[in-house]
Amino acid sequence: MNIIRFEDLVAQGQATGKRVFIRADLNVPLDDAGNITEDTRVRASVPAIELALKANAAVMVTSHLGRPTEGEFKPEDSLAPVAKRLGELLGREVKLVSNWVDGVDVAPGQVVLLENCRLNKGEKKNNEELAKKLAALCDIFVHDAFGTAHRAEATTYGIAQFAKVASAGPLLAAEIDAISKALEAPKRPLIAIVAGSKVSTKLTILESLSKNVDGLIVGGGIANTFMLAAGLKIGKSLAEPDLVGAAKAVIESMKARGAEVPIPEDVVVAKTFAADAPATVKAATDVADDDMILDIGPKTAAKLAAQLKAAGTVVWNGPVGVFEFAAFENGTKAIAQAIAESSAFSIAGGGDTLAAIAKYGIEKDVGYISTGGGAFLEVLEGKTLPAFEILTKRAAG
Ligand code: 3PG
Repeated sequence: MNIIRFEDLVAQGQATGKRVFIRADLNVPLDDAGNITEDTRVRASVPAIELALKANAAVMVTSHLGRPTEGEFKPEDSLAPVAKRLGELLGREVKLVSNWVDGVDVAPGQVVLLENCRLNKGEKKNNEELAKKLAALCDIFVHDAFGTAHRAEATTYGIAQFAKVASAGPLLAAEIDAISKALEAPKRPLIAIVAGSKVSTKLTILESLSKNVDGLIVGGGIANTFMLAAGLKIGKSLAEPDLVGAAKAVIESMKARGAEVPIPEDVVVAKTFAADAPATVKAATDVADDDMILDIGPKTAAKLAAQLKAAGTVVWNGPVGVFEFAAFENGTKAIAQAIAESSAFSIAGGGDTLAAIAKYGIEKDVGYISTGGGAFLEVLEGKTLPAFEILTKRAAG
């Protein structure tokens, strides 16, 4: 993808002393007392800011936090906790600036955090007048918010249209590179794992991937619907019988290309959905009417692990079982370990997937862990994200 990279602008001296506006995704979870409970996104925003500071730029950073009502400030919508955490990470005070649309006082070598951009009227609808004002605040716009790259808002799209220069920050660029490596020019075989409770929420992803991947591993409630499509009984497991036709179509379209959707040959079942429910391994053909499938069985896990180890590229979204319960975690654990041991380039994303990666301590063994939730899913759906579209356009001149 041809984009202007902020790192290159810095290396060429083009950012030196300039006014730089960085759109980060600092939308982090907060507890009731306003403490950040998970700060990955704040840490991920640091390299872009440090790059800009290294260039002695006057640095403005903003982000949304939650989904506030535009024009109505409430204390819980404030980026104040983020300013504090960012200050700790950068080792300098980060001043939080409110009412900043008409001008920001910031000198070269300084960094300020601009209050929640979704408080500005017109942000969500990408109002042109607002976008032009934002663009006028800077010489260089840096889009570094992959988590919000699927939104066309004033700070993510409009500003990129009107800023003198619109570039991708190091985080966004790394996401673009990893996605291109995994989906545009993958080393084959390319295996995707798409798991989750419902086919309906991931049907477009399954359909899009089925045109590209060599193996499509399904898991969770999604696998149950695919088992129904393969003529297997699933007892009282979570599934969407009305989507059996859609699942069959995915299986057929994969088959027509000589690719495969592996259907579990054994499963782990329980009579109730509980951490202490006795777990039984059964052949996929032996599931009883009162059984609930909560994980893939050991034979299936071993077969899938072998496929993942032999893959050239792996895309992972979703755990294959109820990995939060010890008795039903083995499938997801085996998948995680296989990805960790595989020489394949792997890219993983999605909240549950990140939790599984953390649980099995394989962070360093995954090729790229995406910071995007909805944005990552839209990439898997085959959509062109608005951020990628506008940055490519601006790079073309
Ligand atoms: C996210 O958390 O997925 C991003 O920050 C986007 O947030 P949004 O769904 O409110 O646009």
